[in-house]
Amino acid sequence: MYNSKVLEIFKNPKNVGSLKGANGIGKVGNAACGDIMKIYLKISDDGIIEDAKFKTFGCAAAITSTSVATELIKGKSIEDALKVKNSEIIQILGGLPAQKIHCSVLAEEAIKAAVEDYYKRKAKVEKKGKKEEIVDEDEED
Ligand code: FES
Repeated sequence: MYNSKVLEIFKNPKNVGSLKGANGIGKVGNAACGDIMKIYLKISDDGIIEDAKFKTFGCAAAITSTSVATELIKGKSIEDALKVKNSEIIQILGGLPAQKIHCSVLAEEAIKAAVEDYYKRKAKVEKKGKKEEIVDEDEED
């Protein structure tokens, strides 16, 4: 079902795990297949994504798509990271089976969710004037 490029990345995905010091965490899921994807971002004060990691509980296409997505956005500005489309991810993967396209869409959505979370936290900090402890609920239990 998957091409050799997808299988290669699946065997050795990049940026797996949670990220200490993350200031943007995006969690998205697909109700139809039950897969869950989480992207952690460490964004500098001038809006550059210094580091990105992920945890994906899902299929090979979801895992490889998130691996590629985190590789693509590292070192990019927030604006450029938001321009990453699932079509670019699919291209890097050398194609995905039609029924697995939604997995790459999930990766695009996870980037957006993490950036949104970053802005939300930033707004809170600006309002309160102090930094809030970042809690990753997966790490709590
Ligand atoms: Fe749903 Fe892959 S089958 S994310």
